[in-house]
Amino acid sequence: MVFSVAVAGASGYAGGELLRLLAGHPEFEVRTVTAHSNAGQRLIDVQPSLRSLAHLTLVDTTPENLSGHDVVFVALPHGKSGQLTAHLPAETLVVDCGADHRLENSDDWAAFYGGDYFGAWTYGVPELPMANGKQRDHIVGARRIAAPGCNASTVALALAPGIHAGVIEARDLVAVLAVGPSGAGKSLKVPNLAAEILGSANPYAVGGTHRHIPEIVQSLRWAGSQASALSGDATISFTPVIVPMSRGILATSTARLVPGTTAAAVREAWASAYADEPFVHLLSEGHFPRTADVLGANTALIGLAVDEAAGRVVTITAIDNLVKGTAGAAIQSANIALGLTETLGLTMNGVAP
Ligand SMILES: NC(=O)c1ccc[n+]([C@@H]2O[C@H](COP(=O)([O-])OP(=O)(O)OC[C@H]3O[C@@H](n4cnc5c(N)ncnc54)[C@H](OP(=O)(O)O)[C@@H]3O)[C@@H](O)[C@H]2O)c1
Repeated sequence: MVFSVAVAGASGYAGGELLRLLAGHPEFEVRTVTAHSNAGQRLIDVQPSLRSLAHLTLVDTTPENLSGHDVVFVALPHGKSGQLTAHLPAETLVVDCGADHRLENSDDWAAFYGGDYFGAWTYGVPELPMANGKQRDHIVGARRIAAPGCNASTVALALAPGIHAGVIEARDLVAVLAVGPSGAGKSLKVPNLAAEILGSANPYAVGGTHRHIPEIVQSLRWAGSQASALSGDATISFTPVIVPMSRGILATSTARLVPGTTAAAVREAWASAYADEPFVHLLSEGHFPRTADVLGANTALIGLAVDEAAGRVVTITAIDNLVKGTAGAAIQSANIALGLTETLGLTMNGVAP
Protein backbone atom coordinates (compact mmCIF):
# COMPACT_ATOMS: atom_id res chain seq x y z
CA MET A 1 0.00 0.00 0.00
CA VAL A 2 1.25 3.49 -0.83
CA PHE A 3 0.29 6.20 1.68
CA SER A 4 -0.65 9.62 0.32
CA VAL A 5 1.27 12.43 2.00
CA ALA A 6 0.96 16.20 2.40
CA VAL A 7 3.76 18.43 3.71
CA ALA A 8 2.85 21.78 5.28
CA GLY A 9 5.69 24.31 5.31
CA ALA A 10 7.29 22.71 2.27
CA SER A 11 9.18 25.88 1.32
CA GLY A 12 11.19 25.89 4.58
CA TYR A 13 14.28 23.99 5.71
CA ALA A 14 12.49 21.28 7.71
CA GLY A 15 9.81 20.91 5.01
CA GLY A 16 12.48 20.64 2.32
CA GLU A 17 14.31 17.93 4.22
CA LEU A 18 11.06 16.03 4.76
CA LEU A 19 10.53 16.13 1.00
CA ARG A 20 14.08 15.00 0.20
CA LEU A 21 13.63 11.95 2.41
CA LEU A 22 10.01 11.27 1.39
CA ALA A 23 11.02 11.30 -2.29
CA GLY A 24 13.10 8.18 -1.60
CA HIS A 25 10.55 6.44 0.62
CA PRO A 26 9.00 3.39 -1.07
CA GLU A 27 5.64 3.54 0.77
CA PHE A 28 4.97 7.30 0.75
CA GLU A 29 3.83 9.43 -2.18
CA VAL A 30 3.90 13.21 -1.73
CA ARG A 31 0.76 14.64 -3.34
CA THR A 32 0.40 18.08 -1.72
CA VAL A 33 2.95 20.69 -0.64
CA THR A 34 1.91 23.89 1.12
CA ALA A 35 3.59 27.20 1.93
CA HIS A 36 2.80 30.72 3.13
CA SER A 37 4.51 33.57 1.23
CA ASN A 38 5.66 31.10 -1.46
CA ALA A 39 2.20 29.64 -2.17
CA GLY A 40 1.59 29.60 -5.92
CA GLN A 41 5.26 28.98 -6.77
CA ARG A 42 6.51 25.77 -8.37
CA LEU A 43 8.23 23.70 -5.66
CA ILE A 44 11.30 23.27 -7.87
CA ASP A 45 11.74 27.06 -8.07
CA VAL A 46 11.77 27.38 -4.27
CA GLN A 47 13.58 24.13 -3.44
CA PRO A 48 15.80 23.60 -6.52
CA SER A 49 17.55 20.55 -5.03
CA LEU A 50 14.31 18.51 -5.09
CA ARG A 51 14.52 17.52 -8.77
CA SER A 52 12.26 14.46 -8.58
CA LEU A 53 9.37 16.53 -7.20
CA ALA A 54 9.33 19.06 -10.05
CA HIS A 55 5.68 18.26 -10.82
CA LEU A 56 4.47 19.79 -7.50
CA THR A 57 3.23 23.36 -6.93
CA LEU A 58 3.06 25.01 -3.50
CA VAL A 59 -0.50 25.76 -2.36
CA ASP A 60 -1.84 27.66 0.66
CA THR A 61 -1.54 26.04 4.10
CA THR A 62 -5.20 25.37 4.85
CA PRO A 63 -7.04 22.43 6.45
CA GLU A 64 -8.85 21.93 3.13
CA ASN A 65 -5.60 21.50 1.18
CA LEU A 66 -4.15 19.16 3.83
CA SER A 67 -7.26 16.98 4.23
CA GLY A 68 -7.74 13.77 2.26
CA HIS A 69 -4.22 12.42 2.82
CA ASP A 70 -3.15 9.42 4.89
CA VAL A 71 -0.22 11.29 6.44
CA VAL A 72 0.37 15.02 7.01
CA PHE A 73 3.80 16.31 8.02
CA VAL A 74 3.72 19.82 9.45
CA ALA A 75 6.81 22.07 9.47
CA LEU A 76 5.52 25.53 10.43
CA PRO A 77 6.64 28.21 12.89
CA HIS A 78 5.53 27.34 16.42
CA GLY A 79 1.99 28.42 17.24
CA LYS A 80 0.81 27.79 13.68
CA SER A 81 0.37 24.04 13.60
CA GLY A 82 -1.88 23.87 16.66
CA GLN A 83 -4.47 26.10 14.95
CA LEU A 84 -4.36 24.02 11.78
CA THR A 85 -4.16 20.41 12.88
CA ALA A 86 -7.23 20.59 15.11
CA HIS A 87 -9.21 20.63 11.83
CA LEU A 88 -7.66 17.41 10.41
CA PRO A 89 -9.49 14.07 10.72
CA ALA A 90 -8.63 11.95 13.76
CA GLU A 91 -7.68 8.96 11.58
CA THR A 92 -5.06 10.97 9.62
CA LEU A 93 -1.52 10.48 10.90
CA VAL A 94 -0.24 13.98 11.68
CA VAL A 95 3.44 14.48 12.52
CA ASP A 96 4.34 17.97 13.71
CA CYS A 97 7.96 19.10 13.46
CA GLY A 98 7.23 22.26 15.43
CA ALA A 99 7.07 22.73 19.19
CA ASP A 100 3.29 23.09 19.57
CA HIS A 101 2.65 19.59 20.89
CA ARG A 102 5.90 18.60 22.60
CA LEU A 103 5.42 19.84 26.16
CA GLU A 104 3.12 18.12 28.66
CA ASN A 105 3.14 21.06 31.07
CA SER A 106 1.21 24.16 29.99
CA ASP A 107 3.24 26.28 32.45
CA ASP A 108 6.42 25.30 30.57
CA TRP A 109 4.73 26.31 27.32
CA ALA A 110 3.70 29.68 28.79
CA ALA A 111 7.17 30.33 30.24
CA PHE A 112 9.23 29.44 27.15
CA TYR A 113 6.87 30.01 24.16
CA GLY A 114 3.69 31.82 25.18
CA GLY A 115 0.39 32.07 23.32
CA ASP A 116 -2.23 29.35 23.06
CA TYR A 117 -1.27 25.93 24.45
CA PHE A 118 -2.41 23.08 22.21
CA GLY A 119 -1.69 20.02 24.39
CA ALA A 120 0.96 17.30 24.14
CA TRP A 121 1.12 14.57 21.50
CA THR A 122 3.15 11.35 21.47
CA TYR A 123 6.84 12.36 21.45
CA GLY A 124 8.77 11.26 18.36
CA VAL A 125 12.11 10.03 19.75
CA PRO A 126 11.72 6.24 19.54
CA GLU A 127 15.09 5.39 21.13
CA LEU A 128 14.54 7.38 24.30
CA PRO A 129 14.83 5.07 27.32
CA MET A 130 11.72 5.33 29.50
CA ALA A 131 11.25 4.16 33.10
CA ASN A 132 9.67 1.12 31.41
CA GLY A 133 10.74 0.26 27.87
CA LYS A 134 11.39 2.80 25.14
CA GLN A 135 9.41 5.74 23.75
CA ARG A 136 8.97 3.60 20.60
CA ASP A 137 6.30 1.56 22.44
CA HIS A 138 4.11 4.68 22.68
CA ILE A 139 4.49 5.58 19.00
CA VAL A 140 3.08 2.29 17.66
CA GLY A 141 -0.41 3.04 16.30
CA ALA A 142 -0.28 6.75 17.28
CA ARG A 143 -2.06 9.24 14.99
CA ARG A 144 -0.66 12.47 16.46
CA ILE A 145 3.12 12.69 16.89
CA ALA A 146 5.34 15.60 18.00
CA ALA A 147 8.78 15.34 16.40
CA PRO A 148 11.51 16.63 18.71
CA GLY A 149 13.45 19.85 18.92
CA CYS A 150 16.85 19.18 17.35
CA ASN A 151 18.94 20.35 20.32
CA ALA A 152 16.55 18.75 22.78
CA SER A 153 16.69 15.26 21.28
CA THR A 154 20.48 15.47 20.94
CA VAL A 155 20.99 16.22 24.63
CA ALA A 156 18.24 13.87 25.83
CA LEU A 157 19.67 10.94 23.85
CA ALA A 158 23.12 11.82 25.19
CA LEU A 159 22.17 11.77 28.88
CA ALA A 160 19.04 9.63 29.26
CA PRO A 161 20.84 6.24 29.50
CA GLY A 162 22.91 7.42 32.46
CA ILE A 163 19.88 8.77 34.29
CA HIS A 164 17.88 5.66 33.48
CA ALA A 165 20.62 3.41 34.88
CA GLY A 166 21.23 5.65 37.92
CA VAL A 167 24.95 6.13 37.14
CA ILE A 168 24.80 9.93 36.76
CA GLU A 169 23.04 12.55 38.83
CA ALA A 170 20.10 14.39 37.30
CA ARG A 171 21.15 17.65 38.98
CA ASP A 172 23.93 19.86 37.62
CA LEU A 173 23.86 18.67 34.01
CA VAL A 174 25.77 20.91 31.60
CA ALA A 175 25.39 20.98 27.81
CA VAL A 176 27.27 23.21 25.38
CA LEU A 177 26.40 22.77 21.72
CA ALA A 178 27.98 23.80 18.45
CA VAL A 179 25.04 24.27 16.08
CA GLY A 180 24.62 25.14 12.42
CA PRO A 181 22.37 28.11 11.49
CA SER A 182 19.90 25.99 9.48
CA GLY A 183 18.45 25.10 12.89
CA ALA A 184 16.95 28.58 13.00
CA GLY A 185 15.03 28.20 9.73
CA LYS A 186 15.14 29.93 6.37
CA SER A 187 13.46 33.25 7.17
CA LEU A 188 15.75 36.28 7.20
CA LYS A 189 17.28 37.14 10.57
CA VAL A 190 20.31 39.43 10.99
CA PRO A 191 22.23 37.08 13.38
CA ASN A 192 22.03 34.40 10.70
CA LEU A 193 23.47 36.45 7.84
CA ALA A 194 26.67 35.03 6.38
CA ALA A 195 28.54 38.20 7.40
CA GLU A 196 27.62 37.59 11.04
CA ILE A 197 28.45 33.89 11.03
CA LEU A 198 31.34 33.14 8.70
CA GLY A 199 34.61 33.20 10.63
CA SER A 200 32.87 33.49 14.00
CA ALA A 201 31.32 31.36 16.77
CA ASN A 202 28.25 33.10 18.23
CA PRO A 203 26.54 32.10 21.50
CA TYR A 204 22.82 32.73 21.90
CA ALA A 205 20.00 32.09 24.41
CA VAL A 206 22.55 32.03 27.25
CA GLY A 207 21.54 31.66 30.90
CA GLY A 208 18.64 29.22 30.94
CA THR A 209 16.43 30.90 28.34
CA HIS A 210 16.57 28.45 25.41
CA ARG A 211 13.20 26.96 24.49
CA HIS A 212 14.49 23.42 24.37
CA ILE A 213 15.33 23.30 28.09
CA PRO A 214 11.89 22.15 29.35
CA GLU A 215 11.76 19.55 26.56
CA ILE A 216 15.10 18.09 27.70
CA VAL A 217 14.01 18.04 31.35
CA GLN A 218 10.75 16.32 30.35
CA SER A 219 12.61 13.58 28.43
CA LEU A 220 15.03 13.00 31.29
CA ARG A 221 12.13 12.79 33.74
CA TRP A 222 10.58 10.05 31.58
CA ALA A 223 13.92 8.23 31.47
CA GLY A 224 14.32 8.23 35.23
CA SER A 225 14.32 4.84 36.88
CA GLN A 226 13.54 4.46 40.55
CA ALA A 227 17.16 5.07 41.49
CA SER A 228 17.58 8.38 39.68
CA ALA A 229 14.06 9.57 40.44
CA LEU A 230 15.24 10.01 44.04
CA SER A 231 17.26 13.03 42.96
CA GLY A 232 14.22 14.79 41.46
CA ASP A 233 13.83 16.61 38.15
CA ALA A 234 16.92 17.27 36.05
CA THR A 235 18.56 20.69 36.14
CA ILE A 236 20.60 21.66 33.12
CA SER A 237 22.77 24.57 32.10
CA PHE A 238 22.29 24.68 28.33
CA THR A 239 24.29 26.91 25.96
CA PRO A 240 24.15 26.74 22.16
CA VAL A 241 26.85 28.34 20.01
CA ILE A 242 26.22 28.98 16.30
CA VAL A 243 29.24 27.92 14.23
CA PRO A 244 29.91 28.30 10.50
CA MET A 245 28.51 24.98 9.23
CA SER A 246 25.18 24.90 7.45
CA ARG A 247 23.79 21.93 9.34
CA GLY A 248 24.77 19.75 12.25
CA ILE A 249 24.91 19.74 16.04
CA LEU A 250 27.86 18.68 18.17
CA ALA A 251 26.72 18.58 21.80
CA THR A 252 29.09 18.20 24.74
CA SER A 253 26.80 17.09 27.56
CA THR A 254 28.29 16.31 30.96
CA ALA A 255 26.94 15.03 34.26
CA ARG A 256 28.14 14.27 37.79
CA LEU A 257 29.14 10.65 38.22
CA VAL A 258 27.23 8.95 41.03
CA PRO A 259 30.00 8.31 43.61
CA GLY A 260 31.35 4.78 43.55
CA THR A 261 30.24 4.08 39.97
CA THR A 262 32.88 2.41 37.80
CA ALA A 263 33.75 3.52 34.29
CA ALA A 264 32.67 0.07 33.08
CA ALA A 265 29.21 0.51 34.62
CA VAL A 266 28.89 3.88 32.93
CA ARG A 267 29.77 2.49 29.51
CA GLU A 268 27.42 -0.44 30.03
CA ALA A 269 24.50 1.94 30.73
CA TRP A 270 24.85 3.57 27.28
CA ALA A 271 25.80 0.35 25.48
CA SER A 272 22.76 -1.55 26.71
CA ALA A 273 20.39 1.38 26.05
CA TYR A 274 21.36 1.61 22.38
CA ALA A 275 22.61 -1.92 21.59
CA ASP A 276 19.80 -2.74 19.15
CA GLU A 277 19.11 0.74 17.79
CA PRO A 278 19.56 1.24 14.05
CA PHE A 279 20.08 5.00 14.35
CA VAL A 280 21.70 5.70 17.74
CA HIS A 281 25.22 4.34 18.08
CA LEU A 282 27.65 4.43 21.00
CA LEU A 283 31.20 4.71 19.65
CA SER A 284 33.93 2.51 21.05
CA GLU A 285 36.13 3.81 23.85
CA GLY A 286 38.40 6.69 22.84
CA HIS A 287 36.32 7.55 19.75
CA PHE A 288 34.23 10.70 19.39
CA PRO A 289 31.94 11.78 16.55
CA ARG A 290 32.21 14.62 14.04
CA THR A 291 29.20 16.35 12.55
CA ALA A 292 30.31 15.31 9.05
CA ASP A 293 29.82 11.66 10.04
CA VAL A 294 26.05 12.22 10.34
CA LEU A 295 25.45 14.76 7.57
CA GLY A 296 22.28 13.70 5.73
CA ALA A 297 21.91 10.64 7.98
CA ASN A 298 19.22 9.79 10.49
CA THR A 299 21.94 8.87 12.95
CA ALA A 300 22.99 10.09 16.38
CA LEU A 301 26.58 9.15 17.20
CA ILE A 302 27.66 9.28 20.84
CA GLY A 303 31.19 9.24 22.23
CA LEU A 304 31.60 8.68 25.97
CA ALA A 305 34.35 9.23 28.55
CA VAL A 306 34.59 9.29 32.33
CA ASP A 307 36.63 12.22 33.67
CA GLU A 308 37.65 10.71 37.00
CA ALA A 309 39.41 13.84 38.29
CA ALA A 310 36.38 16.03 37.62
CA GLY A 311 33.94 13.34 38.78
CA ARG A 312 31.95 13.76 35.59
CA VAL A 313 30.72 11.71 32.66
CA VAL A 314 31.38 13.45 29.34
CA THR A 315 29.32 12.67 26.24
CA ILE A 316 29.87 14.08 22.76
CA THR A 317 26.91 13.63 20.43
CA ALA A 318 26.61 14.48 16.74
CA ILE A 319 23.40 14.67 14.74
CA ASP A 320 22.16 16.39 11.60
CA ASN A 321 19.57 18.84 12.95
CA LEU A 322 17.46 18.55 9.80
CA VAL A 323 17.47 14.73 9.72
CA LYS A 324 17.66 12.98 13.11
CA GLY A 325 16.84 16.35 14.67
CA THR A 326 13.55 16.75 12.78
CA ALA A 327 12.58 15.32 9.35
CA GLY A 328 14.24 11.93 9.82
CA ALA A 329 12.79 11.57 13.32
CA ALA A 330 9.38 12.49 11.90
CA ILE A 331 9.57 9.85 9.15
CA GLN A 332 11.02 7.20 11.48
CA SER A 333 8.13 7.85 13.89
CA ALA A 334 5.59 7.74 11.04
CA ASN A 335 7.01 4.37 9.95
CA ILE A 336 6.55 3.02 13.47
CA ALA A 337 3.05 4.47 13.85
CA LEU A 338 1.89 2.91 10.59
CA GLY A 339 3.49 -0.50 11.25
CA LEU A 340 6.07 -0.11 8.47
CA THR A 341 9.71 -1.14 8.77
CA GLU A 342 11.16 1.55 11.03
CA THR A 343 14.16 2.32 8.83
CA LEU A 344 12.28 2.76 5.50
CA GLY A 345 13.38 5.82 3.54
CA LEU A 346 16.20 6.62 5.97
CA THR A 347 19.94 6.05 5.93
CA MET A 348 22.40 5.62 8.78
CA ASN A 349 25.33 6.68 6.54
CA GLY A 350 26.56 10.25 6.56
CA VAL A 351 28.22 12.34 3.83
CA ALA A 352 31.87 12.91 4.75
CA PRO A 353 34.19 14.68 4.09
N1 LIG B 1 15.41 23.86 11.10
C1 LIG B 1 15.60 22.86 11.95
O1 LIG B 1 16.72 22.32 12.08
C2 LIG B 1 14.45 22.35 12.78
C3 LIG B 1 14.70 21.28 13.65
C4 LIG B 1 13.68 20.80 14.46
C5 LIG B 1 12.44 21.38 14.38
N2 LIG B 1 12.21 22.42 13.55
C6 LIG B 1 10.89 23.04 13.54
O2 LIG B 1 10.28 22.92 12.25
C7 LIG B 1 9.43 24.05 12.03
C8 LIG B 1 9.85 24.69 10.69
O3 LIG B 1 11.18 25.13 10.85
P1 LIG B 1 12.08 25.55 9.61
O4 LIG B 1 13.47 25.58 10.12
O5 LIG B 1 11.76 24.72 8.43
O6 LIG B 1 11.57 27.05 9.35
P2 LIG B 1 11.57 27.87 7.97
O7 LIG B 1 12.69 27.41 7.11
O8 LIG B 1 11.51 29.29 8.34
O9 LIG B 1 10.20 27.44 7.25
C9 LIG B 1 8.95 27.86 7.78
C10 LIG B 1 7.82 27.35 6.91
O10 LIG B 1 6.59 27.81 7.46
C11 LIG B 1 5.92 28.65 6.53
N3 LIG B 1 5.32 29.78 7.24
C12 LIG B 1 5.95 30.90 7.68
N4 LIG B 1 5.06 31.70 8.31
C13 LIG B 1 3.85 31.09 8.25
C14 LIG B 1 2.55 31.41 8.68
N5 LIG B 1 2.30 32.56 9.33
N6 LIG B 1 1.54 30.53 8.44
C15 LIG B 1 1.78 29.36 7.78
N7 LIG B 1 3.00 29.01 7.33
C16 LIG B 1 4.03 29.85 7.57
C17 LIG B 1 6.98 29.11 5.54
O11 LIG B 1 6.34 29.41 4.29
P3 LIG B 1 6.93 30.51 3.28
O12 LIG B 1 8.40 30.26 3.16
O13 LIG B 1 6.20 30.20 1.99
O14 LIG B 1 6.59 31.84 3.83
C18 LIG B 1 7.88 27.89 5.47
O15 LIG B 1 7.33 26.91 4.62
C19 LIG B 1 9.62 25.01 13.21
O16 LIG B 1 8.57 24.86 14.12
C20 LIG B 1 10.92 24.54 13.83
O17 LIG B 1 11.02 24.78 15.21
C21 LIG B 1 13.20 22.92 12.74
